[in-house]
Amino acid sequence: MASAVPFLELNLPSMQGYSISQNRLLGRLDELATIGPIEGGGSCRLALTDADRDGRDLVLTWMKDLGLDISIDGVGNIVGTWNVGTGLPVMTGSHIDTVRTGGRYDGNLGVIAGLEVIETLMSAGMTPARPFAVGVFTNEEGARFQPDMLGALVYVGGLSLETALDTVAIDGAVFGEELQRIGYAGSSPCPSAAPYAFVELHIEQGPRLEAEGVQIGAVTGVQGISWQEVTISGQSNHAGTTPMSLRHDPAYIAAEIAVYLRQIAREYGGNQVCTVGKIDLQPNLINVVPKSATLTLDVRNTDEKLLCEVEAKIDQKIAELAVAEGVTISSRVLARFEPVEFDDQLTGLIVEMANYHNRSVMMMPSGAGHDAQMLARVCPTTMIFTPSVQGISHNPTEFTNTDDLVAGTNILMDTMWALAHSDLSSQTGMI
Ligand code: GLV
Ligand code: MN
Ligand code: MN
Repeated sequence: MASAVPFLELNLPSMQGYSISQNRLLGRLDELATIGPIEGGGSCRLALTDADRDGRDLVLTWMKDLGLDISIDGVGNIVGTWNVGTGLPVMTGSHIDTVRTGGRYDGNLGVIAGLEVIETLMSAGMTPARPFAVGVFTNEEGARFQPDMLGALVYVGGLSLETALDTVAIDGAVFGEELQRIGYAGSSPCPSAAPYAFVELHIEQGPRLEAEGVQIGAVTGVQGISWQEVTISGQSNHAGTTPMSLRHDPAYIAAEIAVYLRQIAREYGGNQVCTVGKIDLQPNLINVVPKSATLTLDVRNTDEKLLCEVEAKIDQKIAELAVAEGVTISSRVLARFEPVEFDDQLTGLIVEMANYHNRSVMMMPSGAGHDAQMLARVCPTTMIFTPSVQGISHNPTEFTNTDDLVAGTNILMDTMWALAHSDLSSQTGMI
């Protein structure tokens, strides 16, 4: 089979005997994890909080120590560029914001691995033919501000800066004000110029690689995501005196919706997943039938047609439940992104790189959202996955073995080098 990028003819860093530094990689992961520490060894760095600022400050010191050119754009995306060679940069990166119960690898690995690649090459005296850039994208998680991947979306021109800055958080804070407050409202323009190619290293965050005994995932794309917030308004009343037949109970309807989501996900099977991650009841007291319930729906599928079908069935079910219980229900979309397919040549390159590194590999879609899915709008893009022990993520116990972290970062290094020395425009679907 012809290679998309004839990397075997190149002097890859690993062919020269260079490897990334395990100690430096782990040391930086550990150090970043101490910012916003939570019980169990993870971190809480919700986007644009003080902890996010402190994490950014730390990454900036690393970038400055490496002598990178640093830019910060209007939505707070940080890009550190090793300005060598010519042409557009080969870019990598990820995010350092976390969910409230974040692990120490989600996003952080992609940023720190990018810096590690650059530091390894600098120490080796190897200079790529194109600049290398490492992006730290704002608010990938979407846990505090929706939508998720907001910084990367603005970076590629998929959302205006003004709209992003006006976004209101779940705690009522305004994105633009928080960005100013933490000192990361930069002056570099966004949307930004597209890089030559983008490759993101990330933990899988799911169970497949481990279950199948495979060491590397070559990511084919990211499934579609549909987020909405549903608000149910009913009749608040006394829990002891109100006959069941006279209730207009938002808590009960919230529960019915959660049960329906599980049911429809089972019915569709395949890659259909549905989650109710957040339910707020008012007034939230033991002996009061609530006045209102607000819940979030996270519905994802790799197939856009199936995702649309499931969304429509959920809407219909919600309307039926409202009539049956005598409550009113409204909803608003928090995020909606169609499935994304990554560049075949680049994903094929990851397969070949994994083979070359003697790591078992499989092609797979991503269940989680990623900054790469936004970069894919403007340049050839792919991702490298490393296994997550027991498939646990968004949880402080998230863990990836050191050997896998090191192998993934070495594959990232060789991949970025191969891309920097290849002419993607001359390749015509050879994989
Ligand atoms: C981001 O981590 C997401 O997929 O929810
Ligand atoms: Mn992530
Ligand atoms: Mn995440």
